[in-house]
Amino acid sequence: MSGRRNKNIRKRRIWRAAILFCAAFLAVLAFSCGYFYRDALFAFGVNGADTAPSGDELPQTDTDTGPVEEPEPPDPPVQNQPSPYPPPPGQVLQIADGNYLLALVTKQTTLGQYAPTDLLQIPGEMIHPQQRQWQYFLRREAVEQLLKMWEDARVQGITLQVISAYRSYEVQGQLFRDYASRHGEEEANTFSAKPGYSEHQLGTAVDFGGTSVDKTPAFGETTPGRWLAENACKYGFVMSYPPDSEAITGYIYEPWHFRYIGVENARRWKQSGKVLCEFLAEQPQYWRE
Ligand code: DAL
Ligand code: ZN
Repeated sequence: MSGRRNKNIRKRRIWRAAILFCAAFLAVLAFSCGYFYRDALFAFGVNGADTAPSGDELPQTDTDTGPVEEPEPPDPPVQNQPSPYPPPPGQVLQIADGNYLLALVTKQTTLGQYAPTDLLQIPGEMIHPQQRQWQYFLRREAVEQLLKMWEDARVQGITLQVISAYRSYEVQGQLFRDYASRHGEEEANTFSAKPGYSEHQLGTAVDFGGTSVDKTPAFGETTPGRWLAENACKYGFVMSYPPDSEAITGYIYEPWHFRYIGVENARRWKQSGKVLCEFLAEQPQYWRE
C-alpha cells in the first residue's frame, strides 16, 4: 500500500517539475522572440527607421519624464511655388524640367546637363544648302510646327533656311569657348550663351539664315527676316532677343533666333507685348532645390 503511495507522489513530483521546466522554457522563448522581432522590424526599415536605433531612439515609456513627442512630419515637396526669379546677384536658379515649353532660360537660370529625349531630324530641304552635310534636330512638336511654317512661307514665296537648331551642353560649350578665344569671354557672352544657359539646349530654338547678312542685325531687314518677325508666332515661334532689349535679355538683337513655346502660349505672349523672358518670368516656373 505505502509503496504504491510513494510511487504516486514521485510521479506527481516529476510531472510538476516537467510542467515548471516547460513553462520556464516557453517564457525564455517568448522573451527572445520579442527582441528578435523588434530588431527585424528596424532592420527592414519598418516604422521609418533605416537602421537599428541607438539606445536614445528606443521607444519611450510612461516612466520617462514628460509626454512622448511625435516627430515632426517632413515638409511636403514644394510644387509650383511663387517664382523666386530673379535670384539674388551672383546666384543662379536650376531649371527643374527642360521639357517644360515655358521654362525660363536666361543668364540667371541653368539647364545643367538637360537633354531632350524626343528630338527629330529637320528635313534636309529646310537646311541651308551649304550645311546639309550636317544633321539638325528639334523636339518633335517644334519640328512639326516648323514644317508647317516652312511650307506656308514657301507657298508665299519665302525661303526659310535653318542654320542652327538643337545644341547639346557639350556643343554649346565648344561654340562658346571658340567665340571667347576670339572675342574675349565678356563680349562672347553678349551673343553666345555659356553651356547650360542656351535656349538651343532645350531643343526648341532655331536660327534662320541663307542671306548675305546671316547672324547680324541686318538679317531683320531681309525678306525672310521680316516674314519671320511678322508670322513666326502664329506657329508658336517667338523671337527671344528683339531690338533694344539687351538690358533685359543680356543678349544683342538676334532677329534670326526663334524659340518654340506652343501656339497658344505664343498668342498670349504676343498679346502681352513683353520681351519673351519677361513674359516667361510671369508664368509658373519650377526650380530644383
Ligand atoms: N545666341 C544665343 C544667345 C545662344 O547662344 O543661345
Ligand atoms: Zn540661336
